[in-house]
Amino acid sequence: MKIGVIGAGFIGRAVAQRALAAGHEVMLSNSRGPQTMSSVVSGIRGVKVGSAEDAAQFGDVVLVAIPFEHYRKVPAQWLAGKTLLDANNYYPERDGHFPALDRFETTTSRLLAEHFTHSKVIKVFNAIFAADITDHARPHGAPDRRALPVAGDDAVAKAQVITLLDELGFDAVDAGSLDESWRFERAKPAYCVPLDQPGLKAALAAAERTVELPPVDREHTRA
Ligand SMILES: NC(=O)c1ccc[n+]([C@@H]2O[C@H](COP(=O)([O-])OP(=O)(O)OC[C@H]3O[C@@H](n4cnc5c(N)ncnc54)[C@H](OP(=O)(O)O)[C@@H]3O)[C@@H](O)[C@H]2O)c1
Repeated sequence: MKIGVIGAGFIGRAVAQRALAAGHEVMLSNSRGPQTMSSVVSGIRGVKVGSAEDAAQFGDVVLVAIPFEHYRKVPAQWLAGKTLLDANNYYPERDGHFPALDRFETTTSRLLAEHFTHSKVIKVFNAIFAADITDHARPHGAPDRRALPVAGDDAVAKAQVITLLDELGFDAVDAGSLDESWRFERAKPAYCVPLDQPGLKAALAAAERTVELPPVDREHTRA
């Protein structure tokens, strides 16, 4: 599979490393252009770099992993017809306030889907610290394999992403549609906590729409 990545930060690079290890082709991009990514190229063997538009065109699936406030800067037509992997989280202190999110009326992924109207948006990779994508990956069937939540409205695209997760070293739990993806957004029980499939299902079920838990304080890292 060809995977385009818009956002060459912590999460984009971690997914790129695992995807390359699984035999996929990956093109990373950032906002400043490929001429600024020489350290990325030398640090991740086999990765391609390009402009964000290049990465969008390159990918059969395209991961969007940028600070949430910037999602509308990515032109929707670049990703028309594509499966869009949405790893983004909303941190108001970083992203500014989105009132509909503050009022628990929508989800981050639904907002992306309303912008990328002709893309199949799948929420994935948002509820794991970037470093854990490489550290916690395990072969299929490993007893300590971690499960990650996935949500989306397109069943075919969601199945494709669940297969990709398996190749990258993770089990999956289908958390439902994009409107259900709040169950693993920031400050919910499933957010950035290593869980197996039964544990993740329980954490998703335990989430309450308007209840926000204290931050997962691991090295004060924001995901
Ligand atoms: N870090 C984690 O552990 C983690 C885990 C799960 C989810 N997330 C979420 O994933 C997203 C990215 O987080 P991160 O930690 O990877 O961020 P980061 O390290 O700050 O990197 C952000 C990347 O996005 C690029 N970017 C910003 N605006 C862009 C645009 N309009 N077009 C193309 N590229 C653009 C930046 O490029 P320039 O530097 O050139 O501007 C940079 O490469 C956030 O929404 C975050 O909440 C993060």
